[in-house]
Amino acid sequence: MSTYQLDTSTSRATPTPQPMKRLTVPRIRARKKDGVTQEPLVMLTAYTARQAQLLDAHCDLLLVGDSLAQVIYGLPSTVPVTLEMMANHAAAVVRGSYHPVVVVDMPFGSYEQSPQQAFESAAMLMKASGAAGVKLEGGEAMAETVRFLSQRGIPVMGHVGLTPQAVNVLGGYMARGRSDAEADKIVGDARALDEAGAFAIVIEGVVEPIAIAATKAVSAPTIGIGASAQCDGQVLVTDDMLGMFERVPRFVKKYGDLAQTISDTAARYAAEVRDRSFPGEDQTYQPKD
Ligand code: KIV
Repeated sequence: MSTYQLDTSTSRATPTPQPMKRLTVPRIRARKKDGVTQEPLVMLTAYTARQAQLLDAHCDLLLVGDSLAQVIYGLPSTVPVTLEMMANHAAAVVRGSYHPVVVVDMPFGSYEQSPQQAFESAAMLMKASGAAGVKLEGGEAMAETVRFLSQRGIPVMGHVGLTPQAVNVLGGYMARGRSDAEADKIVGDARALDEAGAFAIVIEGVVEPIAIAATKAVSAPTIGIGASAQCDGQVLVTDDMLGMFERVPRFVKKYGDLAQTISDTAARYAAEVRDRSFPGEDQTYQPKD
């Protein structure tokens, strides 16, 4: 069995019946032509194989986001995330998906020191998981690193605006780009990443006119989150979008109410255990006559 194949003999999950050909980074990049993206790119986060299977047919890209810190591990920020955590979750997402490009976040501290450090970390993530590319946070300061990786076989997605790994410098998760200086910096950061070879750029938590200006300023597709519908694509944290959490950023639209569904379902199970109606006839083994 290849490392990246789903082992259906041991899995409860039903694999996609007719595996689709996986999209590639060049095809994602080519969706923006002469500054126009006819069909917006659809990206969601994924952290597990089953989640990836369920999202597979609907997404162009799956992002193994370091938001798994809060979503999966109950950590207060993305700062404590390690390379090993990212590699393990990314491998699960690659195993569970057939169609989208899988991109994995480089965790805080694994790439900022030098392009060489970034190359070692990115290569480790890609070898361990089979992901097609990495995402890193930061603009102009990361341009040299983005160029270094892109020229050595590692597709890089940039991330500008609100960059959660820098929460200790930014002082919180407020929207960015409200002052002229901040707005100029965001557009300049996007331009620097574009020129350095980023194949796409996430724009997070930025006032809308600046997100639009940055989208117009770069040839790579931009993927907005708390940005603008005029970005070349959109991303949300899947668990936020599904309604798993009560408290979410203002820019999240809840398309489901999974927290309530899980709570109601667990309550039904608990009641049946307590009144001894579970397990019933269908769930118990009797001796064969
Ligand atoms: O970690 C993450 O999930 C992200 C997205 C919110 C863009 O970086």
